Amino acid sequence: QNTEPHTEPHVDVHTAAHTKFQWEAPGPYHVAYPRNYIFTLDEPDACREEDPFLVLIVPVAAKNLLARGAIRRTWGNESLVLGKTVRLFFLLGLPSGKGSERLQADVEKEREEHRDLLQSNFLDSYRNLTIKTMMMLEWVASRCRNASYAMKVDSDVFLNVQNLVKMLLDPKTPRQDYITGMMTRHSVVVRNPNSKWYMPVDVYPDATYPPYPLGMGYVFSTDLPQKLVDVSRRIRPLYIEDVHIAMCLKQLGIVPTDPPSRSLFKAYMPSRFNRCHYAAVITTILDGPARLLQYWSDLQKPAPPC
Ligand SMILES: *[C@@H]1O[C@H](CO)[C@@H](O)[C@H](O)[C@H]1NC(C)=O
Ligand SMILES: *[C@@H]1O[C@H](CO)[C@@H](O)[C@H](O)[C@H]1NC(C)=O
Ligand SMILES: *[C@@H]1O[C@H](CO)[C@@H](O)[C@H](O)[C@H]1NC(C)=O
Repeated sequence: QNTEPHTEPHVDVHTAAHTKFQWEAPGPYHVAYPRNYIFTLDEPDACREEDPFLVLIVPVAAKNLLARGAIRRTWGNESLVLGKTVRLFFLLGLPSGKGSERLQADVEKEREEHRDLLQSNFLDSYRNLTIKTMMMLEWVASRCRNASYAMKVDSDVFLNVQNLVKMLLDPKTPRQDYITGMMTRHSVVVRNPNSKWYMPVDVYPDATYPPYPLGMGYVFSTDLPQKLVDVSRRIRPLYIEDVHIAMCLKQLGIVPTDPPSRSLFKAYMPSRFNRCHYAAVITTILDGPARLLQYWSDLQKPAPPC
């Protein structure tokens, strides 16, 4: 059933002329993008001043302070890796519901302390994740285009920044039109209306999606964000964030790159702590901030090579 609030249609004057897709008010399986969202918290000069090689952006809800704290104390604190500057930002939407004013005040204090928060003026929710991703891309395109690479990392991911930078510095790694991660191909479109990933035939008619890296963590060259933002304004936005990226890439004629080894991007947590699992990957998923802190301290202990 349609439980989405009605949103006023809006057509960006700069893109309307060459728009193939007519913007429609979002139904339950559409999202409100493009629209004139803005950044209410920004770090406009961070990239210009620090000149990072790699920018990491973690989309996270305002209330998830524990995840931000754990990341800052672990992989997010690695600012110089193999001689390259790495900069971390968290990307927030607006909190909603009870206690949201108090939460917003806390966010602003946290921002003064850490200078790593970006916030845009849409309501944070699962169905708005595509908006979050597109705002991330708009931000990288306008604020950090001199960085070589950027990565979207979910807040429950363990990131091995050393292995990531090593992969990016490899001469075989493309510098343009590059996006990689845990690749999925011929992913079957979910037609079960009870599923979190339900996609109606009238919104997306094909049986499978084009190839794309899973949303938990994908890395891209910084020429891509502007191209994705531009093309996104000409296609129907899908609410499944990584599938939306897949559609943009397809429209651009850009094929995502396979990582040098499939074992670099993983999405599971071994049932027992296995040091060598974490030493070998770029991404893997953890079951919460406490686990990240625990495993991180285990990984800092001296141990034989894997
Ligand atoms: C990128 O680098 C150029 C040349 O060094 C500089 O003029 C420009 O301000 C930089 N842009 C950003 C967004 O940092
Ligand atoms: C981050 O790393 C630096 C050393 O590079 C260390 O001095 C600092 O205590 C660390 N910060 C946190 C929050 O762990
Ligand atoms: C997405 O964000 C817009 C803008 O804040 C809001 O109007 C809409 O209700 C949000 N949608 C959901 C499903 O949260």
